[in-house]
Formats: sequence, C-alpha cells, structure tokens
Amino acid sequence: MKTQDFIDRENKYGAHNYHPLPVVLEKGKGIYVWDTAGKQYFDFLSAYSAVNQGHCHPKIVGAMQEQAGKLTLTSRAFFAAALGEYEEYITSYFGYDKVLPMNTGAEGDETALKLCRKWAYTVKGIAENQAKIIVCAENFHGRTITIISMSTDPDAKKDFGPYTPGFVTIPYNDLDALEKELEDPDVAGFLVEPIQGEAGVFVPDEGYIKKAYDMCKAKNVLFIADEVQTGIARTGKLLACDHEGVKPDILILGKALSGGVYPVSAVLADDDIMLTIKPGEHGSTFGGNPVASKVAIAALEVVKEEKLAENAERLGRIFRKELSAIESEMIGLVRGKGLLNAVVVRPKNGKTAWDICVAMKENGLIAKPTHDHIIRFAPPLVITEEELYKAIDIIKKTFQEFD
Ligand SMILES: Cc1ncc(COP(=O)(O)O)c(C=O)c1O
Repeated sequence: MKTQDFIDRENKYGAHNYHPLPVVLEKGKGIYVWDTAGKQYFDFLSAYSAVNQGHCHPKIVGAMQEQAGKLTLTSRAFFAAALGEYEEYITSYFGYDKVLPMNTGAEGDETALKLCRKWAYTVKGIAENQAKIIVCAENFHGRTITIISMSTDPDAKKDFGPYTPGFVTIPYNDLDALEKELEDPDVAGFLVEPIQGEAGVFVPDEGYIKKAYDMCKAKNVLFIADEVQTGIARTGKLLACDHEGVKPDILILGKALSGGVYPVSAVLADDDIMLTIKPGEHGSTFGGNPVASKVAIAALEVVKEEKLAENAERLGRIFRKELSAIESEMIGLVRGKGLLNAVVVRPKNGKTAWDICVAMKENGLIAKPTHDHIIRFAPPLVITEEELYKAIDIIKKTFQEFD
C-alpha cells in the first residue's frame, strides 16, 4: 500500500473529526517515528506532549508487558494489588493525600469539576446547584459536553448545545478580571492551564499563577490546575505550577503520566477535598486498572531517573534562542517554556503554518499547526543537545525555503 492508500482508507472508514498531516506512521523509538515507506522523522509533537519519555520507552513498555501477562482489569468492584502500589507511589511523588485514577485528560477535568462542586456544597456551604467555576477564555480541557460548555472555541461548541451551566469565563492572564469574579460568594473554583497549550503555547505573565492562587485562597476558592499538557517535566519542572511554587488544591494529570503507552489520567487532592466524593458517586471501569497502575509508576520513574525536567529546561533555552535567531519573514514570534514552545507564523504569499508543517515533514521533522498561524514544537524530553541542533537545522532550512 502507498501513503495515499492508507490515508484514503482512514478517510473512508473513520470519522472525519481530525485533519492530520499527510504522513502515515507505523513505528516509533525515542524521539523518532517512521512512516510506512520507512522514512524517519523527528517527532516534534510527541502526541500533544504524551510521549515525553520517548516512543516505546523500554522500561514503560516492559512494565506494561509484564502486567498484561498477569492481570489486566479487575474493575473497582475489588481491590487490586497494583492499584494500591500506584496510589501510594503517585501521591508521595506529587505530595497529595489521595489520587482518583481515570483514563483520559477530559475525564480528569470532569472529575476535578465534580470534586470542586461536591466540595462547594458539602464543605464551603454554597446553596444547592448554585456553585460556579471560573474558567479562562481560549482554554482547552477536552471534548465532553461539559468541557466544551466552558470553551470559547466556536469549532468546539457550535451545534453541540445545549451547554452545561455553572461556568464563568474570564480572559486568561487577567488578574483584575479574576479578582472581580472572586467577589461572588457562589464561586467554588478556578480552573486554569498554567500555560495554554492548545491556544498556541500562551505563557502568562510571570507571577500570574502565584497571584491567582493567593487570590483564590483569600476567597476560599479551589485553585484547580489542568496540567494534562504542561505536567510531567514538559516545561522544565515536574509541574508548570512549580515554576511559581504553587501547589494546586486539585491537580489534573494525563498524557505523559503513561509516557504515551496507555490512557492514564489522574486527579490529585488532599483529604478535605477528595473524601467529599463517596462510593458510587464517581468512577470508571478502566480507571486505575493494574496495567495503567504499573505503566504510570514506570513512566514517573523514568522522568526522575532520566532527569527529563532538567533536560527540558536546558534544551528549551537553546531551542528558543536558536529559533529566535532564524532570519525569516514568516517567523513572527517564538515563545514557550522548557520544551513546550511555539512559533507564531506570519503568512506570506498565501503560505501558512500548515504549508510550513508539510514542508518540514518533507525535510524529516513532524509538527502540527494549532490555530492556523501557530506551530507548536514539543519533542520527547529524552532528546539530546546534538539531536536538538539537527532538528533546529531542519526547521531553519524549511523556513528559509519559503523566503
Ligand atoms: C490542557 C489539556 N487538558 C485536557 C486535555 C484533554 O485530554 P484528552 O485528549 O486525553 O481527553 C488536553 C488535550 O490536549 C489538554 O491539552
């Protein structure tokens, strides 16, 4: 089969809910992926920061294989040896009393919203059905009905109403707007991404997260961090909130929690919040299953053993410096933190970020535009300095082809 045959087959039998770059992948190892014709690419998307530990990391895949031959799924109707081990490991790793295991990032966000509402009624004392949660414009928290109800992206929302009520939207990176909304005594939580990834790697002003956290504390409002994309070493610290010394009341993790090997998400909180949810009130058949548990432990061990946060911090600085130095009319701005970076593309002669991504693919590096004019660059965090410079050469060469 040729590349186009694979593409045609997906288009014929699969729903058209994505618009992929025309490359068909069938193998991955570390920072590289290979297409069906055997061509090698630098992966500069890392499955939206899920593959921070590199493709098919042997330790993580090994943990999965070992557990898969032993016990895969029990449901939560019974206790499972691997789950307790994972719960103890992840709570001490991130410094929380408890974890609630789920599968996808969106489920993690849904869980956090339910926890926040439950806490609002049973602890804070908000009148039934009156709790509000503040969210930010341009957010991305997933695709469920409730989550798109909080979205400001017309593509995410249009024709999917009616929407879930109970959310108040403020501009991102706007402390005055937050202060004003926090005056409402029915506000229970503030849900925020420490860096808005899908919005185009929008990094807020320094101090924003810390000040927002302090303002929430002053009003007895839960600070809820969605670190599904920014967490697990991506931005140069274990969590992006660590850059400002903030420990969220509710922390949502996903993606790289499994190194991209398995859908694993988690919500972490202390007892005063987590124990508000009682048996039968929330859960998932697959959440916290034995394979997920073992995979997540291995994935988190790799982050520490291979010093991925330190690598992301150091190489991220080199990446932004080198990209900023590229002379190209199409590079409007370079921004990011650690190895979560983006270039804002200035269209030229009808050529856009999409055309650059297609050309980069031809040159051996895959990345994906977000919002038409922004390209996100997020390689696996196991990349070395030498490999990074090779990738930068491809990016540079590609932009210069358009000048
Ligand atoms: C910040 C953030 N939250 C939630 C999600 C949703 O995760 P999932 O696609 O696993 O549901 C994403 C996915 O990109 C994300 O970036």
